[in-house]
Amino acid sequence: MRPPLKYAARGRVPPFIAMEVMRDANRLAATGTDVIHMEVGQPSTAAPSRVREAAARALSESVLGYTDGLGLPELRMRIARHYQEFYGVALDPARVIITGGASGAFLLAFLSAFNAGDRVVLASPGYPAYRHILTALGIEVVDVATGPEDLYQPTPALLDRVEGRIDGVIVASPSNPTGTMLGEAALTALVAWCARNGARFVSDEIYHGLTYDAPAITVAGLSDDAIVINSFSKYFSMTGWRLGWMIMPADLVPSISTLAPNFVISPPTLSQIAAIEAFESHDELQANLRRYAENREILVAGLPGCGIESFLPPQGAFYLYADIGNLTNDSLAYCRRMLHETGVATTPGLDFDAARGHRALRFSFAGKTEEIAEAVKRLRRWR
Ligand SMILES: Cc1ncc(COP(=O)(O)O)c(C=O)c1O
Repeated sequence: MRPPLKYAARGRVPPFIAMEVMRDANRLAATGTDVIHMEVGQPSTAAPSRVREAAARALSESVLGYTDGLGLPELRMRIARHYQEFYGVALDPARVIITGGASGAFLLAFLSAFNAGDRVVLASPGYPAYRHILTALGIEVVDVATGPEDLYQPTPALLDRVEGRIDGVIVASPSNPTGTMLGEAALTALVAWCARNGARFVSDEIYHGLTYDAPAITVAGLSDDAIVINSFSKYFSMTGWRLGWMIMPADLVPSISTLAPNFVISPPTLSQIAAIEAFESHDELQANLRRYAENREILVAGLPGCGIESFLPPQGAFYLYADIGNLTNDSLAYCRRMLHETGVATTPGLDFDAARGHRALRFSFAGKTEEIAEAVKRLRRWR
């Protein structure tokens, strides 16, 4: 008899429930049900037209070989200029590193900054992939439970309460799943806490550009020691192009310079060439933002009439996270029932908060305005 083959326990990370709900919703749609997709966090628009035109040109005119491992120099420079134009922050392009989406940036950033056994703080509820990537790398996740009273974000007081060493803190502002944001004073206080405690600050800025009240603050303007991660997926409406970037502290650039080419050789060339044009496409992108803002208004005004009353109006991103403890104690079953009885697909909070997500759900309002309005109508009838 053959000895059993081994498997790596670290590779057995939990599933991403949102993707499973999407599969369920797609199956239902294939049987003819009119499904409204509010479970997936991606724009319903294509990449800006200038990006698509540049890609078409590059496809016919360029060899599309590998680029530098850290990315196309023109794109790195254009991103550095974007920080000047968008935030008034001067950046050395040598610190800008192109990656396969924010997801690719997480892997490289965590490998360069943390050792196996290090302890990294995540706010709960939060984006599940941080936890799963850290866990697969043998890095311990330290959950900090947050609530509406602290805008679902970590605070220095919450960090002070953590027992034991903290080697890193990951923050997303605007956040997925809550759409809440940290202002300059709150971010500065967190950065200072990390500096005092020898912890690396990681700022996931993927939802920058998608804000409804005040613009988002980049941590690149507050600290040269922080890791700042961003992506073309959300504001730039380019999820499938798999392109993102990070601003690395100078002391971590040498390890990224060797890690990145070993892991991926180079980021996708076609996407990099085309993405340069994304920064000249703000008119088109602002039209998307206006649609999200309208969708947000419809949800914020309409959900209370559907019995969904406990939520913070999102300040950014395209998510609304609601406490539905008044309706259910089993958000997964509730979302399934909602999908099958109304055709509205949402994500149960369990994806974002294992301890309390059984009484929460997330709506993504990145879709078309007519669909969001129709979803509210259906949920009002359903309640
Ligand atoms: C907070 C957050 N970070 C990162 C990502 C990953 O984005 P991508 O790899 O497409 O850049 C997502 C995707 O939904 C997200 O919500």
